[in-house]
Amino acid sequence: MIILGIETSCDETAVSVVEANGTIENPIFNVLGSSLHSQIDLHKKYGGVVPNLAKREHIRNLPIVLDEALSRSSLDLAKIDAIAVTVGPGLEPALWTGISFAKELSEKLGVEVIPTNHMEGHIASVLTGGEKIEFPALSLLVSGGHTELVFIENWKNKNKIGETQDDAVGEAFDKVARMLGLPYPGGPEISKLAVEAREKGLSLETKFPRPMIHSGDFNFSFSGLKTAVLYYIRNITGANIRSGVKTERGQVSESNISDDEKKRIAREFEDAAVETLVSKTKAAVEKYSPKTLIVGGGVVSNTELRKNIESMAKNYPGMKVMLPGKGLATDNAVMIAIAGYIEYLNNSYKNSKLEAKGNLDI
Ligand code: KG4
Ligand code: ZN
Repeated sequence: MIILGIETSCDETAVSVVEANGTIENPIFNVLGSSLHSQIDLHKKYGGVVPNLAKREHIRNLPIVLDEALSRSSLDLAKIDAIAVTVGPGLEPALWTGISFAKELSEKLGVEVIPTNHMEGHIASVLTGGEKIEFPALSLLVSGGHTELVFIENWKNKNKIGETQDDAVGEAFDKVARMLGLPYPGGPEISKLAVEAREKGLSLETKFPRPMIHSGDFNFSFSGLKTAVLYYIRNITGANIRSGVKTERGQVSESNISDDEKKRIAREFEDAAVETLVSKTKAAVEKYSPKTLIVGGGVVSNTELRKNIESMAKNYPGMKVMLPGKGLATDNAVMIAIAGYIEYLNNSYKNSKLEAKGNLDI
């Protein structure tokens, strides 16, 4: 069947056309066309996503992105068999734009709408390469809004075994980037500086904490790490303030930090975040012995995380690692069409209302 995927949970307006076949044990996907409009440039000046601006932009861009996805797939709307749309988690005003758009289209085409969970989308994002997930699987989901470990017995039985108690890891990347005067979204920016630090052999003498690393459970915490970076920056800029380079309101100013020092901070922060994620995931692998380890979400674009996950997994030869392909780690509509097909096969959505659920759980 041909599924139209629609994603508007945050600041990306995305539509995809995906051919989906096969059974729940062995679903097969062929991406026929997709299009994505990122609102990053618009939100950059506010240092983060502004929900009502996101809503306005989604409304404006959905028809354009739909046309583009269709023309890339060389199909017309009449060929669509079902529409999968993200209903949560995410920003409700943004989610509603996709849902209303999907509803209208479904009435016009006489096809059904499959309400789809964004986080299931991040799990399903690894399925475009033709590889099969062997169950049970374990998934580490790392994005701007979530950091969680999910044990997946099969597509019907999923159990969140741990999650962040405060900030999501992507959020911590974004906030630390902001402290260093880097633009939103900060993840890729921090990552770039960290790579440069490694290339130049720059490292920080101070070690930032690896929060909850020995807590004995599978929960995370990133706000203490973020605060440790803030205090460190305060400390070093404080020294500058004493030497007279005080900002107008006496605030911490990233302009007082040298480029090399920014690189050192970025590297140490990235190391701390990655080490925490990998160590918790390793502990969960030990306990649950999954046959597949899936890592999904925007932060999987981070090369250091991918590298460290893969090297940790080498200790478990019976377990395969599945990571999203290029362009599928951050939010997109291909993963929504794929997760939608799985929902469709599961038939578990029939009684659920088609509405935005900002805090929808996995
Ligand atoms: O999954 P996603 O696109 O959106 C949400 O559902 O939140 O994830 C976005 C998050 C942002 O916090 C962004 O800074 C982070 O993913 N991110 C990265 C990298 N690329 C994106 N974090 C670290 N390293 C990266 N290379
Ligand atoms: Zn996401």
